[in-house]
Amino acid sequence: MIENHSTTTLELVRAYHERTKHHFDRYAAGPDFLDWEQQPNPFREFESAPLIKLPLDFEELPEPGFNSLNTQQPQLGLKDWGLTEISSLLRFSMGLAAWKVYGPDRWSLRCNPSSGNLHPTETYMLVSGLRSLQDGVYHYAPYPHALELRAENGSSSPNQPQLLLAFSSIAWREAWKYGERAYRYVQLDIGHAIGALAYSAAALGFRLQRLPVSRKKLTKLLGLDRQEDFKDAENEYPDLIFRLRESPDQVPDPSGADGIQLPMTSQWHGTANRLSQQPSHQWPLIDELEQPLMECPPCQQLPLAESIPAPARVPDQPIRQIILQRRSAQAFHGKSILQLSHFYQILDHCLPRATEHPWKSWPYQARIHLLLFVHRVEGLSPGLYLLPRSRQALPLLKQNLDEDFSWQPVEGCPAHILLHQLVTTEVKKAARALSCHQDIAASSFFSLGMLAEFDAALQASGPLAYPELFWEAGLIGQVLYLQAEAHRVRGTGIGCFFDDAVHQIAGVKESGLQSLYHFTVGEAKPDNRLQTLPAYHHLGS
Ligand SMILES: Cc1cc2nc3c(=O)[nH]c(=O)nc-3n(C[C@H](O)[C@H](O)[C@H](O)COP(=O)(O)O)c2cc1C
Repeated sequence: MIENHSTTTLELVRAYHERTKHHFDRYAAGPDFLDWEQQPNPFREFESAPLIKLPLDFEELPEPGFNSLNTQQPQLGLKDWGLTEISSLLRFSMGLAAWKVYGPDRWSLRCNPSSGNLHPTETYMLVSGLRSLQDGVYHYAPYPHALELRAENGSSSPNQPQLLLAFSSIAWREAWKYGERAYRYVQLDIGHAIGALAYSAAALGFRLQRLPVSRKKLTKLLGLDRQEDFKDAENEYPDLIFRLRESPDQVPDPSGADGIQLPMTSQWHGTANRLSQQPSHQWPLIDELEQPLMECPPCQQLPLAESIPAPARVPDQPIRQIILQRRSAQAFHGKSILQLSHFYQILDHCLPRATEHPWKSWPYQARIHLLLFVHRVEGLSPGLYLLPRSRQALPLLKQNLDEDFSWQPVEGCPAHILLHQLVTTEVKKAARALSCHQDIAASSFFSLGMLAEFDAALQASGPLAYPELFWEAGLIGQVLYLQAEAHRVRGTGIGCFFDDAVHQIAGVKESGLQSLYHFTVGEAKPDNRLQTLPAYHHLGS
């Protein structure tokens, strides 16, 4: 139980956040050892649901460059989409990217990263009016790269073709390893999944439009409330739902619901597999948080208002290649230096613009800002820097951070990138120590903490702002991963850090700002002991 006898969901959220902080002398509650017998299956299956295998040949699709996503036009309208388009959308977002082999061990990696490679995120597709697929609700199964038909639609069919995509999460997959803090990682993974899906949609000339559907409603739509189908299965909670839209440049309608019709399902198929041998009742704190959040109305976020110049771009590479080659660095060389122009370009793409992917799919005001630990960037003194991701956040950041910081705008930095130098000094030791003593935070070009406008967001948008701040952080993480690849360097998300120690170094006293995620970018040192196999070699193609 969360101990402070919380009466409101907002208090519960705050209590959860406090309780799951890591401290130098005490980690958040988690297992003392890993019970490998109970290791959760990373693949959800609905046994006996009809399976539609998706093709893995994408030769007939255009191959846009990473820099040309904004001008990518749909080759086909949704109505004419075949299984190849659907396959591409899912394969290059939530599908497998490779297998790694080390001695007798073999594990798969996916296009979307996940804390501990545990993959709590599940993907559903709700389809109507497409020529290639019967109307209904489908679950995406990444291992066989197939759709499982969960439910057929009843009689009411919308008058225009519709493809909706929804995410849900099985927190047990993360809690098995990380205990109570797992809820945070699950939400960060959703942020990465949003980014992964947005980039994959952009490659087809589409973007995502979020729908204001309550969690309760989403549970029903996805059939997650059907106890008869989830008898033995670990809890699965809905997160959010998008509609796939052609990708015009205009700022989308933030209410999101124009012309949408939610399907009426009739017959359901399949039973969810249990992921661990024994049903698990560990870490009940996560259910204690999820259940009241289910009762909250959808979170209102403010639409993006600021408009800034388009970002500079690196030489182009095919987007699907970048998606497939994305990996987390396990170690960095720690010697080379990042070109200053590349540093600015990587940061520039983290700024939200309603006209740029993936932000077109998440066109909300920024509530996360970057506290940078600069180690090795051409022409920049090592030190602590701050990148506000919106101009209007500057006063709040100045008010909440150490008053002794110098707040020097960085000379020569493009004017719309509001990079400020706070302190110049070596920060490698601090970065390593703060990120749970992980060397990747120090041997990189730079690492960073993502500072959320915590109090303001919770106050303005209510308890569901809590997961949504993590989603924004995860989405920034996905941008950083792909930007790093495009600049021929490599990133790694860092979920393990000592929360209040980070706040202390930044001079944050109250909960006005809270660090939610760390990230690091450097020149990766490959691990030559590992063998790599193609993603779908097990399907014989
Ligand atoms: C939310 C999140 C937190 C992560 N935290 C860490 C971390 O603290 N340390 C680390 O070495 N890797 C971390 N990673 C990297 C994952 O271990 C990695 O994504 C996973 O093993 C899959 O590998 P891939 O990214 O190469 O596909 C994190 C990734 C995510 C998405």
